[in-house]
Amino acid sequence: MSRAQPQKWVSLLILFLLHLLLTSHADVGSAAQYPPPYLPTACYGSDSSQFPSSNLFAAAGDGIWDNGASCGRQYLVRCISAARTGTCVPDKTIQIRIVDYAGSVNSAPSAPATTMVLSQTAFGAIANSTAISINIEFQQV
Ligand SMILES: *[C@@H]1O[C@H](CO)[C@@H](O)[C@H](O)[C@H]1NC(C)=O
Repeated sequence: MSRAQPQKWVSLLILFLLHLLLTSHADVGSAAQYPPPYLPTACYGSDSSQFPSSNLFAAAGDGIWDNGASCGRQYLVRCISAARTGTCVPDKTIQIRIVDYAGSVNSAPSAPATTMVLSQTAFGAIANSTAISINIEFQQV
């Protein structure tokens, strides 16, 4: 052990703390999909301009609904696994906008109690659209 060793550890500790501060950590959850009709929504009612032109949007599940405060929040979403291998589109991340509450969407989600329920377009962009539900990594933008 050289005399420089303690200094080295302090440097490493500082680097580690900086890493924790600067790296945003994504959460892991699940996603189902829901078909049209998408209007009206719990967030914006019957206003058809609420949907992004990409059609990448979602309804928030209880875990992220935040009593309606999640309306308009944007999330980066990536499919990480599913019951059937090959379901996820590899390395594909989409950005979705929350426009509705999963507990009150007009058409039944493909699976209950997921973190979020994706529009058909959003779901099909990151996974095989025949899947019922997928595991996702998500992060608020
Ligand atoms: C999607 O999944 C279905 C059913 O498992 C399968 O038949 C189909 O080939 C898959 N499509 C793609 C593009 O992987």
